[in-house]
Amino acid sequence: MIDPKLLASRFPGDFTFGVATASFQIEGASRTDGRKPSIWDAFSNMPGRVHGRHNGDVACDHYNRWEDDLDLIKDMGVSAYRFSIAWPRIIPDGTGPINEKGLDFYDRLIDGLKARGIKAFATLYHWDLPLTLMGDGGWTARSTAYAFQRYAKVVMARLGDRLDAVATFNEPWCSVWLSHLYGVHAPGERNMDAALHALHYTNLAHGLGIDAIRQVAPQVPAGLVLNAHEVIPGSDSQADRAAAERAFQFHNGVFFDPVFKGEYPADFLSALGTRMPKIEAGDLEVIGQKIDWWGLNYYTPMRVADDPTPGAEFPATVAAPPVSKVKTDIGWEVYAPALKSLVEGLYKRYELPVCYITENGACYNMEVEHGVVDDQQRLDYYAEHIGVVADLIEDGYPMRGYFAWSLMDNFEWAEGYRMRFGLVHVDYGTQVRTVKKSGQWYGELAVQFPKGNHKAG
Ligand code: FCB
Repeated sequence: MIDPKLLASRFPGDFTFGVATASFQIEGASRTDGRKPSIWDAFSNMPGRVHGRHNGDVACDHYNRWEDDLDLIKDMGVSAYRFSIAWPRIIPDGTGPINEKGLDFYDRLIDGLKARGIKAFATLYHWDLPLTLMGDGGWTARSTAYAFQRYAKVVMARLGDRLDAVATFNEPWCSVWLSHLYGVHAPGERNMDAALHALHYTNLAHGLGIDAIRQVAPQVPAGLVLNAHEVIPGSDSQADRAAAERAFQFHNGVFFDPVFKGEYPADFLSALGTRMPKIEAGDLEVIGQKIDWWGLNYYTPMRVADDPTPGAEFPATVAAPPVSKVKTDIGWEVYAPALKSLVEGLYKRYELPVCYITENGACYNMEVEHGVVDDQQRLDYYAEHIGVVADLIEDGYPMRGYFAWSLMDNFEWAEGYRMRFGLVHVDYGTQVRTVKKSGQWYGELAVQFPKGNHKAG
């Protein structure tokens, strides 16, 4: 087993080790204190969308158990917590009245973090769009971007004084393509035109959100969390390499280029630009304004080959087979070198600010046996990937922190509760939490780390 002490010694003194969650996946209390439904409540209550028709009504009951959960984080010894704020608790209809009780919850949560000496990294949007906004078209409507801007202002005015960092969006790739083109996530749309609208309005909302943060709480480092894909061609052929470049533009470029270069990628635009909504004067300036940090969520590489079908829609690719035989229980290939080449490639293409790994982790579904969860595979996954982050730092990349996904097992979106990503096991019948072997190991790494077994700090 990789010695957590040794691994910890490879990180600089100001590095941050944390754990991550998201509101809809853990909070439950879906009708409490004025919260109204989000698109994920509607989606998960619709048969055939989420495994076992699981929903977020109770989840990990974190809304009621938050103090114990913060104690758990504290006891693990990590120094930061990445969580998301539920828009439908704050402005339950998306626009209109503000729900003070919703803000009160996050007020308590953040004070609880401060009292325990844990840094607060908030995400404004981790996919729980207020359902009422679907009446206007949800993310396919420009008005939703302005509704988001107001929500961002309201949150930052109340909570900004105690946040250590804020992100506008978590993984727009998921809330755009996975939700509006592939139909896997809420609202379950399968339509390129809808997806292209969601794309531009999400990017716009990010920019307007940054504006809001700067106006109301300019001292809080503001960023964006992207699940950039390491796109690897299935073969060395010219066709597959061209396919990989198209896939890069489609899966990464449409988010990175507007934010970090103030434009959309050229091949993407010539293939699909006429189906995009009107890009109004000033939009790209708003989207492209400087941010303080960016977050990378990484789990697995994307391998693609050319789709030779005549007339295949951009990016005209098909999946290529995995190289590593090792897969997690959700079926994702384990391949840590892709994390390294991904970061290297992105810093080559773009002028990026400092980076936090805002999510990384593995799905393994082992249960508690005789009081323990022996999830050696998860531990190995973490050790390998955290080692890659250390390599990147040694090579001079500005990696500032690492957040494990996830603190505890939770509602894994379309997979419901059957897929477990936690460092802590949750028994959904009793809500008993059991720290897994990986959680103990990660805690040792985090605890060792600030104790001075490193040069700086
Ligand atoms: C990411 C999501 C996160 C979690 C992990 C497994 O795409 O941001 O909420 O579901 O995947």
